[in-house]
Amino acid sequence: MNTFTNAMRHAVSSVSIVTTDGTHGRYGLTISSMTSVSADPPMLLVCVNRNNVAHDAIVANRRFAINVLTVHQQQLAARFAGSNEHGPAYEFNSGDWSGTASGLPQLIDSAAIFECELDRAISAGTHSIFIGQVETACGRDIAPLAYSNREYGMAVGLEAANTIFTGTKNVLEATLL
Ligand SMILES: Cc1cc2nc3c(=O)[nH]c(=O)nc-3n(C[C@H](O)[C@H](O)[C@H](O)COP(=O)(O)O)c2cc1C
Repeated sequence: MNTFTNAMRHAVSSVSIVTTDGTHGRYGLTISSMTSVSADPPMLLVCVNRNNVAHDAIVANRRFAINVLTVHQQQLAARFAGSNEHGPAYEFNSGDWSGTASGLPQLIDSAAIFECELDRAISAGTHSIFIGQVETACGRDIAPLAYSNREYGMAVGLEAANTIFTGTKNVLEATLL
């Protein structure tokens, strides 16, 4: 591991599954790179490795959805990172999936969902930066999943989100303490 990636491990990020569907296929990929770009007009970005099968499908379908994961969805994060034994990451055979109005794969119990039209793709190193125009956005008060130092956990101290777990001993809670 080089100095850059080692230092990056100490940052904390949200975890989402970016999904796409259309004539070029239905795929999903775990990402930590979702960032807001602009509020008016609403735009966000994600960075996707060009070697991932979801990459070319997003380019061709020109549509994607961001499903922001909750602390309860750590296993789905691993699932869509291709890091377990249940087959290719893009098979939607675990999790509670429905479809957005335009038919993009949507996790019904996510912390937030953003439905985007691809505005532009910018090549940068091994990845493409996909900038999306947000068409629909929806969120709810439930603790989002955090990722740091190769571990998943809860961002302790975000009181509004964490109060939903009062009385619940969540094993993830200690991970980032
Ligand atoms: C927490 C987490 C965050 C990730 N974030 C990104 C990301 O922002 N962009 C990306 O291209 N891959 C990201 N990955 C890696 C992909 O999810 C995936 O594991 C990788 O592309 C390898 O997929 P493959 O085994 O199907 O080739 C992330 C993985 C994890 C576990």
